[in-house]
Amino acid sequence: MAMQVLPQDAPCGALVLGLDLKQALTDAQVAEIRRHWLEHKVLAFTDQDLAIEDIERFASTIGPLGSDPYFTAIPGHPHVAQVRRDANERTPIFAESWHSDWSFLAQPPAATVLYGNVIPPVGGDTLFADQYAAWDALPAELKSLVDGRQGVHSARRGYSRQGAYGEKDKGRSMAIRYSDSAMATQLHPIARKHPETGRTALFVSVGYTIGIDGMSDEEAAPILRALFEHQARPEFVYRHRWSQGMLVVWDNRCVNHAATGGYDGYDRLLHRITVEERGDRVG
Ligand code: SIN
Repeated sequence: MAMQVLPQDAPCGALVLGLDLKQALTDAQVAEIRRHWLEHKVLAFTDQDLAIEDIERFASTIGPLGSDPYFTAIPGHPHVAQVRRDANERTPIFAESWHSDWSFLAQPPAATVLYGNVIPPVGGDTLFADQYAAWDALPAELKSLVDGRQGVHSARRGYSRQGAYGEKDKGRSMAIRYSDSAMATQLHPIARKHPETGRTALFVSVGYTIGIDGMSDEEAAPILRALFEHQARPEFVYRHRWSQGMLVVWDNRCVNHAATGGYDGYDRLLHRITVEERGDRVG
């Protein structure tokens, strides 16, 4: 059966049918998937039945496998982490704040691949917000305040000793390890050019952006608040409903994402790989 791509009724997101990711993909299939991924920003491959090696093989067709600074990888698979929450767990939902994965790194991952092993019957959707659309629709006054400026990114709100997943975070089943290294900062353009499409995306998030380079905290705070509110407006958002055996790949360079709860009493388990830039850039 030929591959079928069904765009969602949303600014990003498409379902991909008719591919068995247990089989190695041909170069032509990889190129076609990449084209659809760059266009739709989030692709969901339905009805898969994948082993960890299959997820790794798929992710490496997107680019080199990345490493997770604050997760312990699963044994034997140094690039694979579990996103999990057990039925009896009462910890705050992991990654509920909008973010682009690991944007506090000098070279943030291009993509993230997430595979759903155990999906609760209710809740646990993932939200994706199209940041090309957010940049394009940003009011001119706000655009002129931030264009050419750099955002200050840091993992501290989540992964420092005092962060949400720090020393006070007890009873979490997910293998997160906080570190003092999370206090480090990294600059990235707020209006960031996508290295493959050449389009500009708004590259800040409430999860990881803590300031604007060259501005005082007092000056930057109201601007960042306005950007955070704007970039998550409903017209930019695709709400992704998972099913068991679904593999999703998203483009961290032009979408932010956020987890949601609503599944207390049910297990949820996914396997996640971040993917680095491939190195072919435009401009
Ligand atoms: C993530 O941000 O990697 C997790 C998303 C989710 O659990 O829905």
